[in-house]
Amino acid sequence: MINNDAKIINGIKHSKNLTDKIKELVLKSESLNKRKPSIVVILIGKNSASEIYVKNKIKIAENIGIISKKISYPSSISEKELLNKIKDLNKQNDIDGILVQLPLPMHISEDNVILSIDPKKDVDGFHPINLGNLFLGNNNGMIPCTPLGCIYMLKKELGSLNGLNATIVGRSNIVGKPMQSLLLKENCTTAITHSKSRNLSEFTLKADILIVAIGIAEFIDNNYVKDEATIIDVGINRKKINDKIKILGDVNFNDVINKVNLITPVPGGVGPMTIACLMYNTVKASFLRNNHEFKEIIFDE
Ligand code: GUN
Repeated sequence: MINNDAKIINGIKHSKNLTDKIKELVLKSESLNKRKPSIVVILIGKNSASEIYVKNKIKIAENIGIISKKISYPSSISEKELLNKIKDLNKQNDIDGILVQLPLPMHISEDNVILSIDPKKDVDGFHPINLGNLFLGNNNGMIPCTPLGCIYMLKKELGSLNGLNATIVGRSNIVGKPMQSLLLKENCTTAITHSKSRNLSEFTLKADILIVAIGIAEFIDNNYVKDEATIIDVGINRKKINDKIKILGDVNFNDVINKVNLITPVPGGVGPMTIACLMYNTVKASFLRNNHEFKEIIFDE
């Protein structure tokens, strides 16, 4: 009998290890800047998933010594009002990070909001300057938190990723595209596939590393997976089963577990790492904005 527990990538354990290192960086930042690192999270409207995410971000920031502030607006706020608030936050020297929780109401342009955030305070890493730097192979800017968490776990679990085939399912600006840049930097051979890809399994069956961020519950089954693949499941899909809300990944865990080398569970895989990486970006911003040298710890091994 194979022990399937040994195949699970424990995102909670990895996020605790990273958070311990972030706590040391928080103390160092505080002694250099004579104040604690800080983040402002803006939440617009009522979306229960967003409310939970924001609550977790604020709580974890407080736990590790980062000052956090939540600003809530009703969904009726105008784009202009929101952009003015962001302009104001950009100017405040004691704020290191600004995050506007997505999705936004239909009448507010996501692009305009992302463009309005000072790239140095863009702890989501969504600003074109930050995404552009990442595309050019420069890891010194802000890197989107979910792909950053994925690459951290992959490097910790597999060591060198040199020459491995990595297939990404999903082409979003938040996960798929930045994930490809990070994997290329680690010398993987990469492919991005998506909902319109023909013969998807031809690509996924080549993958030593399969990253799935397509947003469809349990989309990837056994037929898409190469023997001994390592799977990172980015999906968070809420499904009502017998009157209870269950969180499902984009991968059918039970169907693939016998085939894989390693896999992230949902929940308890990518999710905790995303928040840890947000804290990492905030403390990194607090060093870089004040012209202090910052030694990257995500890519150090
Ligand atoms: N909504 C879902 N994920 C994210 C994220 O990583 N950042 C922001 N700002 N909003 C989100």
